[in-house]
Amino acid sequence: MSCRGNVFNMANFLAFPAGGVAVVVGSGGIGGALVEALLAEPAFADVVSFSRSSAPKLDVTSEASIEAAVKFLGEAEIRLVIDATGFLHGDGLMPEKALREISAAHMAASFAVNAIGPALLMKHLLVRLPRAGKAVFATLSARVGSIGDNHVGGWYSYRAAKAALNQLVRTAAIELRRSRPEAVCVALHPGTVATRLSAPFAKAGLNVRPPAEAADDLLRVIAGLGAAQSGGFFDYKGEEIPW
Ligand SMILES: NC(=O)c1ccc[n+]([C@@H]2O[C@H](COP(=O)([O-])OP(=O)(O)OC[C@H]3O[C@@H](n4cnc5c(N)ncnc54)[C@H](OP(=O)(O)O)[C@@H]3O)[C@@H](O)[C@H]2O)c1
Repeated sequence: MSCRGNVFNMANFLAFPAGGVAVVVGSGGIGGALVEALLAEPAFADVVSFSRSSAPKLDVTSEASIEAAVKFLGEAEIRLVIDATGFLHGDGLMPEKALREISAAHMAASFAVNAIGPALLMKHLLVRLPRAGKAVFATLSARVGSIGDNHVGGWYSYRAAKAALNQLVRTAAIELRRSRPEAVCVALHPGTVATRLSAPFAKAGLNVRPPAEAADDLLRVIAGLGAAQSGGFFDYKGEEIPW
């Protein structure tokens, strides 16, 4: 569904060739805020939001629904794709605190949404980025997916699925560079943000930010990315996170 409004503010996306389309997948807390912020961004001629409740519907566990969404985009010049889907808890599943809580079903569900889904998005959308000029595919990963930064353990499925996502991003970026040398493919950590996903864990003392602030931060990072950063893993301040 097209979300183009008529609200403009200052252009901080000047590195993107004008007139392209921005696509946001996932309309949760951060995804919704990203759409709102992008609507105010004059560098994009249109902003398209796909989710499990859009028309057409996009469920990252259904490759057919991804193909239908990409078909819906037609010949649009896609300059920016942000994947803001993700799964941490729900359907009776909570992140594991110990090995004894691991279940194959939970792990499979987490990998389906957090790793395989974004891989399918990259499969169908990276080939749709223009061959010249800046274009960005950014997927929302999580700092807890960092192996080097893992000091507290727990959250086996989510951590492992986000680590797999990071590897998929890195691998896809290498392939992307061959055909689209100016394009960027990255994993971004949004920080702890007040959304449904973080609600059970957003305890006092954590820096929990509103979605609108997280969206602005993420877009600022995306605006500053160039080909040299493709294949990287960055936080909402633009700082590189160890793998
Ligand atoms: N919030 C945080 O503190 C935080 C921290 C680190 C990383 N992240 C990452 O940021 C991203 C966005 O999370 P959020 O905080 O905005 O959480 P959220 O509000 O729960 O949004 C997650 C979105 O993912 C969508 N989704 C789940 N399964 C899907 C599927 N099979 N197909 C399509 N969409 C699906 C949900 O769709 P429905 O609306 O249809 O359920 C929901 O809109 C996630 O990747 C998350 O891991 C968040």
